[in-house]
Amino acid sequence: MKVEEVISDKKEFLDLLRLADEQEDMIDRYLNDGRMFVLYDEDLKGEAVVTELSETECELKNIAIMPNEQGKGYGKALIQFLFDEFLGRYQTMYVGTGDVPSILDFYKKCGFRESHRVKNFFTDNYREPIIDQGVQLVDMVYLRADAKP
Ligand SMILES: CC(C)(COP(=O)(O)OP(=O)(O)OC[C@H]1O[C@@H](n2cnc3c(N)ncnc32)[C@H](O)[C@@H]1OP(=O)(O)O)[C@@H](O)C(=O)NCCC(=O)NCCS
Repeated sequence: MKVEEVISDKKEFLDLLRLADEQEDMIDRYLNDGRMFVLYDEDLKGEAVVTELSETECELKNIAIMPNEQGKGYGKALIQFLFDEFLGRYQTMYVGTGDVPSILDFYKKCGFRESHRVKNFFTDNYREPIIDQGVQLVDMVYLRADAKP
């Protein structure tokens, strides 16, 4: 397994990016400024994008594993790589997601804990209703992971 940073042509991975964020102009808000990483285990398995929020805080903006490769530990491995890469340099990594129990469980298993909510984020920022596992997303739920003291 290896993780590589993508410096140019990040849109080459648009299909994966759109698994986690279906509206392309929302992806455009963070893709250029974000640092993108791709995970290979022989073939491409997944990607993640992290942006800087401040000198002490960063945010995981997008993470996706290829549909036929999910549930095999690649997502958790990619997040562990990101913690090693970013926590230390930054005090806190945030991730925002819809209020979907399975995704919240995934992030908690990876070491995040719930932080705060942004009311109506999905209804205010997306043109079409975003439906995830049969539920319309409304609020953004933020989780956080902190550098060890
Ligand atoms: C969410 C996603 C990144 C998870 O990656 P993954 O490689 O499938 O997850 P992993 O196999 O690394 O799972 C890590 C842990 O989370 C748990 N987990 C993963 N998906 C889960 C789910 N849907 N429900 C409950 N637990 C889940 C696993 O059981 C595992 O637990 P363990 O550590 O006790 O074994 C991946 O499923 C994905 O790309 N989904 C589509 C895009 C998406 O929704 N991105 C997030 C947008 S906010």
